[in-house]
Amino acid sequence: MSHHQSLNSMSFQDEINRRRTFAIVSHPDAGKTTLTEKLLLFGGAIQVAGAVKSNKIKKTATSDFMEIERQRGISVATSVMGFEYQGKKINILDTPGHKDFAEDTFRTLTAVDSVIVVIDVAKGVEEQTEKLVNVCRMRKTPMIVFINKLDRPGKDAFDLLDEVEQKLNIKVRPLSWPIGMGRDLKGVYNIFEQDVHLFEADKQRVTEGIKVENLADSKLEEIIGEDSAEVLREEVELVDGVYPEFKVEDYLSGDICPVFFGSALNTFGVKELLDAFIDIAPSPKPSTTEERVIAPNEDKFTGFVFKIHANMDPNHRNRLAFVKICSGTFKRNTNYLHVRHGKQLKFASPTAFMADKKSLVEEAFPGDIIGLHDSGNFKIGDTLSEGEKIHFKGIPSFSPEQFKYIENEDPMKSKQLAKGIDQLMDEGVAQMFYIPFLNRKVIGTVGALQFEVIQYRLEHEYGAKCRWEPVPIHKACWISSDNEEQLKDFKYKKARNMAEDKEGRDVFLADSPYSITMAQDKYPDLKFHTTSEFED
Ligand code: G4P
Repeated sequence: MSHHQSLNSMSFQDEINRRRTFAIVSHPDAGKTTLTEKLLLFGGAIQVAGAVKSNKIKKTATSDFMEIERQRGISVATSVMGFEYQGKKINILDTPGHKDFAEDTFRTLTAVDSVIVVIDVAKGVEEQTEKLVNVCRMRKTPMIVFINKLDRPGKDAFDLLDEVEQKLNIKVRPLSWPIGMGRDLKGVYNIFEQDVHLFEADKQRVTEGIKVENLADSKLEEIIGEDSAEVLREEVELVDGVYPEFKVEDYLSGDICPVFFGSALNTFGVKELLDAFIDIAPSPKPSTTEERVIAPNEDKFTGFVFKIHANMDPNHRNRLAFVKICSGTFKRNTNYLHVRHGKQLKFASPTAFMADKKSLVEEAFPGDIIGLHDSGNFKIGDTLSEGEKIHFKGIPSFSPEQFKYIENEDPMKSKQLAKGIDQLMDEGVAQMFYIPFLNRKVIGTVGALQFEVIQYRLEHEYGAKCRWEPVPIHKACWISSDNEEQLKDFKYKKARNMAEDKEGRDVFLADSPYSITMAQDKYPDLKFHTTSEFED
């Protein structure tokens, strides 16, 4: 063990152990922002509700992306929110939704150690939640489910949990149970702690739970009335019968998702959620690289870029690269190796994110996110280290959902266009696929807004003009096979739909779900992947 760690290795390990880096994922309007705020309130990181909300991208009906970009600029501050709670350092990573839903949102999930999934009790599992949970499931990220808006009429709890298991393809285990719902909401029973939290519509205050010895305790009748007590006893008995016993290992391995019920707006059920989270959520885990597994407590610093925020003002072309620290201690003004470029870089003003403000950071630990000012050195997935040439895995590209041909509108500016596309793709704004057979380029994005953003930025930052043309593509599938023969035949027959991604990997641009099924039937030895990284 060398230099910076040796003196203080206990506290370095403590720093790692006390970190909880996670994201809240949900469909827009389920209550992610509200819940985030309440968590910050508990952490004392903000004093009043509304502080995070005001930074949120407004639900603009317009597709005026400049306005959204302006708001996005403000929301850099909420990209990562760190706060302290009961000796733990909690980092919440924001997963943009609404109109700013993009690949960024997916990629943020590659930098977290766990997630909380928020579901609206009335709406159930919605589209964006499904997409985000797919990524988490693939990565075996531990997930806690929070069923929100219990103060409103919603679906029956058992039905809803069935829906969650089916649509999200996960196994759940309720750790709390609602007593009534909507207007009849009386409270929540904490199955784990065996206490009852009575519901009070109260937007700020925190109420203490009333302890009952067990469900047979006659105190239950006094607190919630005879009828509710009876129903609760029956339902909890059923819960214990239907769902497996909760084991933390099953949660940590991504096999079981504990479920809590509450109302974020009423700060109800939130403390139970947070306390359980503090208890069971994982601290930073080892990271996989192509070369070896990196443990967080290794003394040498390593980290990777998972998000780049570009300033769209051409007069201020600075970018902020978000780096997740995987091992060691990051220090300000210290030389680190930019592995892809093979050059040393040091950072005079790295940024830490605490609640709703940014501040200069002297050092940061595994699990932390830092913001590095960048003039174009970084692209998504880049590694920083103290000299070791490693490449982190698990930062794949995800199949885009919308596709368009990109065409040059100004033949005099083709160089500028190529450079612009190249850099925007490095930032992770969208993905480019080149179809050799047609000699055309396709841009794929997750949200429709990105096309406007790209066009605008190409013009204003690179002086290039582009035009979009429709292309009927449903999905991009990275393909692989041990059967060279089939691979070759497939690529030949499907030449019009075969593209190369930016790293030169084979991608099948399928025009419908049907064509993937067909292809799979015809070429059984071919594998179709919806992310660029896969285990063969
Ligand atoms: P999001 O970040 O997931 O998009 O959701 P957000 O927290 O903004 O919540 C969406 C709407 O749902 C907000 O109402 C919010 O107040 C409301 N909400 C959140 N949690 C609860 C809850 O537990 N119960 C009820 N009844 N409502 C809840 P809004 O009218 O869109 O915004 P606002 O103008 O009231 O802030």
